[in-house]
Amino acid sequence: MNVRIFDDAAGASRAVARLIARQLELQPASVLGLPTGRTSVAVYKELVRLGPDFSRARTFNLDEFVGVPAHRRTFHAFMDRHLFCRVNLPSGRGHFLDGGAEDLEAECARFERAIAAAGGIDLLVLGIGANGHIGFNEPGKALFARTHRARLTASTRRANAGLFAGQPSNVPREALSMGMGTILDARAIVLIATGRSKARAIRAMFSGRITPSVPASFLQLHQNTTLVLDRAASQGL
Ligand code: GLP
Repeated sequence: MNVRIFDDAAGASRAVARLIARQLELQPASVLGLPTGRTSVAVYKELVRLGPDFSRARTFNLDEFVGVPAHRRTFHAFMDRHLFCRVNLPSGRGHFLDGGAEDLEAECARFERAIAAAGGIDLLVLGIGANGHIGFNEPGKALFARTHRARLTASTRRANAGLFAGQPSNVPREALSMGMGTILDARAIVLIATGRSKARAIRAMFSGRITPSVPASFLQLHQNTTLVLDRAASQGL
């Protein structure tokens, strides 16, 4: 795994934005996998500033809450606000899981088919939860291979409370997420982690063991993963 450490979060965010922009330059019809979360806000801000051409790109978002109506609290709305309203991605080329779908299993299968029909993900950008989750693949006894319905841990619900008026109890208990196999199928992966709160997860990821209790540890199996950190997140390495 390729590890790059920057002095601060701004440097790490710029580096990830540049990697995305370069991917689009080299391959304008790229299929991107994209995350949400506070860390990604600075990445998208810088990406908007760099202004790469999204006109031939396609994107797939990693995950979405279950049962939240399509208004501004969902990850879909997050992406519109921070990226899609500001770049030239044609409508219909940004793909999302529909957490409001009546048949959630069918929705997960549809999403997997859509990724396959697009030719797979060229570059998947990931954040990481303080508990080592990626997407909404939470620590547990076993992980799901493909896109699935996930139960969220209390810590993840607390971490996402900001999107729900600061109230962890308002955060849905379930979400839909790409699975570990969906993630590892991406041709290239970039994971960004900034801040002290991520240092433990980053360290656990590198314990040398691969374990479902640290979902990010599975990235050690991937041939083309770059880890972009700031000093604070790299402290435990
Ligand atoms: C959520 C998302 C993850 C993201 C994580 C980290 O749980 N499902 O994809 O990586 O948040 O978020 P933050 O960057 O806000 O710490």
